[in-house]
Amino acid sequence: MCGIVGYIGNREAYPVLLKGLKRLEYRGYDSAGIALLNGEINLYKKQGKVSELEAFIEGRNIEGNIGIGHTRWATHGEPSDENAHPHMSQNGLFTIIHNGIIENYTYLKKSLIEQGYSFKSMTDTEVLANLIEYVYISQEVSAEAAVQLALSKVIGAYGLVIMCSNEKDKLIAARKSSPLVIGLGENEYFLASDATPIIEYTDRVIYLDNDDIAIIKKDELVLKTSRKDDSLEPRIQTLDLGISEIEKNGYEHFMLKEIFEQPRSIRDTFRGRLKLETNEIKLGGLYDVYDRLLEAKRIIIVACGTSWHAGLVGEYLFEDLARVQVEVDYASEFRYRNPVLEKEDIVIAISQSGETADTLAAIQMARDAGTMVLGICNVVGSSISRETHAGVYTHAGPEIGVASTKAFTAQVTVLTMMAMMIARGKGLIEETRYKDLLRELDAVPEKIERILEQDDKIIQIADIFSNVSNALYLGRGVSYPVALEGALKLKEISYIHAEGYPAAEMKHGPIALIDENMPVVVIATRDNSYEKIVSNVQEVKARNGIVIAIVTEGDETIKGMADHVIEIPATDPSLVSLLSSIPLQLIAYHIAVMRGCNVDQPRNLAKSVTVE
Ligand code: G6P
Repeated sequence: MCGIVGYIGNREAYPVLLKGLKRLEYRGYDSAGIALLNGEINLYKKQGKVSELEAFIEGRNIEGNIGIGHTRWATHGEPSDENAHPHMSQNGLFTIIHNGIIENYTYLKKSLIEQGYSFKSMTDTEVLANLIEYVYISQEVSAEAAVQLALSKVIGAYGLVIMCSNEKDKLIAARKSSPLVIGLGENEYFLASDATPIIEYTDRVIYLDNDDIAIIKKDELVLKTSRKDDSLEPRIQTLDLGISEIEKNGYEHFMLKEIFEQPRSIRDTFRGRLKLETNEIKLGGLYDVYDRLLEAKRIIIVACGTSWHAGLVGEYLFEDLARVQVEVDYASEFRYRNPVLEKEDIVIAISQSGETADTLAAIQMARDAGTMVLGICNVVGSSISRETHAGVYTHAGPEIGVASTKAFTAQVTVLTMMAMMIARGKGLIEETRYKDLLRELDAVPEKIERILEQDDKIIQIADIFSNVSNALYLGRGVSYPVALEGALKLKEISYIHAEGYPAAEMKHGPIALIDENMPVVVIATRDNSYEKIVSNVQEVKARNGIVIAIVTEGDETIKGMADHVIEIPATDPSLVSLLSSIPLQLIAYHIAVMRGCNVDQPRNLAKSVTVE
């Protein structure tokens, strides 16, 4: 949520910052700004996309070897030129970019107004800029001391990069609950809220920890921390990220690229973990907690958005295969509900970004209660991966499209492997079923390829429904979360109102909506509730609804009833969500494109929600 980029070194900063903002735009895109330090500070900001900022800056002074840039997702104050970052303090001494929320900003603002400060924007960030300046002037301290002192008065979350026009040789960065990465070059440093703007310059990075402050000159980096428990020695890590992974590689949108990447991303998720030769699943990140997992009385899954849907699939898998009780909760509900946590419980947090504020808070709460917390994350080194006791990376590669696709199937793949591992460890799964399941899981990427080959047919179906206003998605059992996910995909990128429902629940409400204009997407693959779902299809048809059915290859029964059918290869019922979610992603994608929507950057959404 919001993207931060900074540069200090011998290059011209502007091209680095502009390119960085374009790479980060998926994190927020309602306004953008750049400040360059070149003797004086030149500050440019504009409501709208980064391209609008670029056009605005064209022909203006862009010189300077030090600079900061920001792309915003509004929290305090509407999207506007004034509310865009960077924000400059009243006397022009400090210019800052900020991700996160300053919770006590109203109180701080009031105190600053009493000291004669006035404000141009509605943001909490401008309050922080003025607070730092006020401390700097009134206490006559250095810029870094002013930052430290000001932050000690702040309640909230921040990733910050700060320039001081009196101390022109440095950038100051600070982090609390909002990620910041520093890339290390030769006499130059790059800063960003994630590694995507850094990777083309260097693969050596330092992830700041909570309460770290970095003072960065072009040839020196000093790290300070107010944490009691840590050394000040920066941990330099090597990025495992290729530039091609963050480019569109010929696809029209990141979302389409990521949908088509799924055979590869799922293979990456089980590479080295699913061992057909020895019929084993090895999840290295869980070795230390293996016994605890087998003994768990209850698993509580916490997540948000699409990751929550993956959690619901996990509930079916853990209960069915591993016979352990599972609860799945929205992290935002869990954290404020005073949940009952027992010693034998295990909390599993699922998050693509590893930065979602509510999921992080839920983890903290579970930890405070003494519960073991495991993470399933995509972004290596992310906050959630560091805050959990153990976990498994999904290794799906960077997901840039705001609507999550390959992260979902990677999360479900990890959950499947975990459920199988526990089931086997507890002696609950017959060897033949286990081996069949392993082979079926191994075959999923190839089966997804066969679904992707039907893209032209899916485009034709999407074309028929691109102008509808509502849609219903139905599924039973493990296909119910797939229905929820299909509906979420459609609504978030095409702005069509869509609802996912357990098919049998349709009779208790949504059936009233069905008429000849209502498309109903039914996940009707062959499993033990197949006959029931056939009845549900008939109920929709009896009310003239239009049925688009996702069926198992060769199904003739539903073909005879539904208006449109998309066939997916047969698989083990436990794995079907990995296949049935693919056509739903494609339907949503094509409808959104046909409606002229910005698929990769849907309105009001952000990829990584680092505020609650
Ligand atoms: C945002 C994104 C979703 C994502 C959700 C949870 O809403 O737009 O795609 O599913 O956050 O994010 P996480 O990174 O925790 O999976």
